[in-house]
Amino acid sequence: MPTIAIASPKGGSGKSTTAVILGTELAHAGAHVTMLDCDPNRSLSLWASRGEIPERIKVLSDISESEIIKTIKNHDQDGEIVIVDLEGVATRLMSRAISQADLVITPMRATTLDATVGARTLHLIQEEEEALGRPIPFAIVFTMTKAIRSKQHSGIDSSLRGQGVDIIQPDLMERTAFSSLFEFGGDLYSMPAQGNAKAAQDNASHFAQAVLKRLLDELSEPQGDQA
Ligand SMILES: Nc1ncnc2c1ncn2[C@@H]1O[C@H](COP(=O)(O)OP(=O)(O)OP(=O)(O)O)[C@@H](O)[C@H]1O
Ligand SMILES: [Mg+2]
Repeated sequence: MPTIAIASPKGGSGKSTTAVILGTELAHAGAHVTMLDCDPNRSLSLWASRGEIPERIKVLSDISESEIIKTIKNHDQDGEIVIVDLEGVATRLMSRAISQADLVITPMRATTLDATVGARTLHLIQEEEEALGRPIPFAIVFTMTKAIRSKQHSGIDSSLRGQGVDIIQPDLMERTAFSSLFEFGGDLYSMPAQGNAKAAQDNASHFAQAVLKRLLDELSEPQGDQA
């Protein structure tokens, strides 16, 4: 079953928030999800310790460089979706997780600095693709976006699309409910209402559906027949 690596060498780009939103939404929709905390700062573990871990989610902490491949292989055989949350630094652990991924998602703020650093994930993926001899599907999600798009955002969006980069729609907007996941733990349905809770739930759910669609499209493609 699929492994999704949430990766970017840019710190604070929204990786752990994206991982929790995606994991909790997929579990809410009925999937069994194993979340691997591969960041020494332990954001996922902090989230897990804050409230009750939602049904169908398992969180494994402190996964090291030497354990990552074995851990992914053990879990993605059990009909689970594996989500890997990585540190905001390009490490060998990041490369190993990318090498096992069926989809790499790079969250980034829609600013020039973040997009420039975030786009380096592409090079890391290309290195793994060369080593493995298989394509590794990759997509970007803009995070912490505002209701009104800045010119910078539109420029970055069209530049990335021009380079053939897959951009997940919808963006994960800047929402109090999303940052509050780390205060209350649990998911967007169990926490006390923060801001426009329904809008946050819809945003998260549509994002997770867009990710799931990519995984299903991927699985339905004939293996070894990719250009
Ligand atoms: N969509 C969002 N809406 C509101 N706040 C957000 C959103 N995404 C991230 N944040 C906030 O931005 C900060 C950084 O987010 P997060 O920890 O998810 O990034 P990260 O890429 O995992 O960071 P690191 O590189 O340190 O692991 C946090 O304070 C988080 O609460
Ligand atoms: Mg993080």
